[in-house]
Amino acid sequence: MATQDLQAAQEFIVNPLTPTFGAEVIGVDLSKPLSDATFAAIEQVFHKYHVVCFRDQVLDEEAHLAFTRLWGELEIFPEEDKTKSAKTFYNVANTSVEGEHLPEEDPKVLFQKVNARWHTDSSYRYIPSFASVMYSTEVLPDEAEGGETEFSNMLAAYDALSKAEKRRFEPLHMVHYYEFGRRLFPALPPITAFERDAVPPVSHPLVRVHPDRGYRRSLFFTVNAGNEISGMGLEDGQALHQWLNEYASRPEFTYSHRWRENDLVMWDNRVLLHRATRYDMAKYRRAFRRTTVAGSGPALGPFSVDVCDAPSDDESVE
Ligand SMILES: [Fe+2]
Repeated sequence: MATQDLQAAQEFIVNPLTPTFGAEVIGVDLSKPLSDATFAAIEQVFHKYHVVCFRDQVLDEEAHLAFTRLWGELEIFPEEDKTKSAKTFYNVANTSVEGEHLPEEDPKVLFQKVNARWHTDSSYRYIPSFASVMYSTEVLPDEAEGGETEFSNMLAAYDALSKAEKRRFEPLHMVHYYEFGRRLFPALPPITAFERDAVPPVSHPLVRVHPDRGYRRSLFFTVNAGNEISGMGLEDGQALHQWLNEYASRPEFTYSHRWRENDLVMWDNRVLLHRATRYDMAKYRRAFRRTTVAGSGPALGPFSVDVCDAPSDDESVE
């Protein structure tokens, strides 16, 4: 690729979306190759804001994949019926690949309802994902209610815990399993033997430690892939899990993204939760194409990091 074909390292506009996280980026064309300097600048914005919306992008599947590959290896989805032209795409839609508006009882639509609960993509994997890159192809009209994607900042949520809560949560893990969605919606078809083998249940620390952020901590849990806490009795664990669900919904931690056509929104699954807000699925069409960047290792907890590298509990507790 000749240098002149690349976009020059360019200034772009970054508009913060809340006081603590989320940004809108204006002035970058992601359909064209990015210079190293521009990509480095975007990486910095992403690291700082955790969820970034690139407005006014016109991206075919090839360009969407090319942008995603800049960030690392792509995840391959175990569920073949969600894919379109490649196993690296996940169609988040109440429409079929052929464009048909699907009825509410269709499994693809039921999956959207599972995703109306707080979650982080691929938490049910031993190595959870790094980031998701979602492109809007059909959005709700302005007058329609709902259909947003809400995000919750788990770094801020951890920081706002009391010292006693931090100490209580430190040794805990949550059990994540792909099959949990079937408990919520028994009308979904049972998982296949392939899916059962590909993503068996896994436990992740409830307090996640981030070496790339100076060992900062965040809460790490989901509401769409389980409700059990390792090391606690079932009732107590589920009560704590419900408390976490409500805690993540506090307005001071959240940002609600109202989608426009041609938005490309990228978010960091390691430090955020997200969920879809309800909308009239029978009346409106809503469709996205999502790619997912694989994580680089298992979720680290306070006891999984090298004690020589990690700050002590007292140092990390503000
Ligand atoms: Fe999701």
